[in-house]
Amino acid sequence: MDDTQWEIVILTGAGISQESGLDTFRDKGGIWSKVNIEDVATPNAYQKHPKRVQEFYNARRRPLIEGLIKPNAAHNALARLEKEWSSENRGKVTIVTQNIDNLHEMAGSKNLIHMHGEILKARCQKCGNILICNTDLGFEEVCPECTGKDVLRPHVVWFGEMPLEMDHIYALLEKCALFISIGTSGNVYPAAGFVQFVGVNLNVYKIELNLEPSEGATLFDEARYGAATDPIPLFVEELLLNGIPSRN
Ligand code: APR
Repeated sequence: MDDTQWEIVILTGAGISQESGLDTFRDKGGIWSKVNIEDVATPNAYQKHPKRVQEFYNARRRPLIEGLIKPNAAHNALARLEKEWSSENRGKVTIVTQNIDNLHEMAGSKNLIHMHGEILKARCQKCGNILICNTDLGFEEVCPECTGKDVLRPHVVWFGEMPLEMDHIYALLEKCALFISIGTSGNVYPAAGFVQFVGVNLNVYKIELNLEPSEGATLFDEARYGAATDPIPLFVEELLLNGIPSRN
């Protein structure tokens, strides 16, 4: 077996950040129970009501800028896994997150793909420039690259838009030996389809760590249920000690 066969891909969703104080989307009292997707998270919403959309994301950006939200033991455990797994030359660990918060990087994760974008970045709709955004976005800002005005939008992926770095993600999924899905309800594609994609390779071990069974729960080889800070540090400990579980 060559070392690329020991690569690990970890998909994370809103559940991993819940204990840090960020709301999930589809749980009781979650974000989509308070506001309609069609009103704030589509290109059409932005076209029709740009102020409302900017304000929705401004409100979600503020607690991160103010330093009120910190990574929890689950984010920390994943950063530890990446560091120790690679320092022992066992392969690469990559986190593919649907989250737009910055808690994985704050915890120290390096191989990280934000497939739904990043709330702490803005994107110029005119020239495509992506820049750090640590303030409210309004309609006065000027793009430092093209000097366009009224052109900066949150660097997030809205419903109806293509998630980011999909070729890179599928290439990683194709050669991983372990797929871990954490804190995601399995309602939103393409992320919800990753477990099926990796399952084509019968050697890949697939585990779900979530509060409750996700939509795709039966597609995993193993599931452990509980709030993220409970099963995740424990699973990481086991993984570092025993290696990747075998499907046989
Ligand atoms: N620990 C672990 N899991 C948790 C916790 C917790 N403390 N709290 C909630 N969960 C689980 C829920 O049981 C649920 O299965 O996390 C999952 C969260 O699901 P969603 O709210 O649907 O969030 P997510 O799957 O990340 O949503 C995907 O939908 O609206 C979009 O763009 C948004 O990236 C998001 C995408």
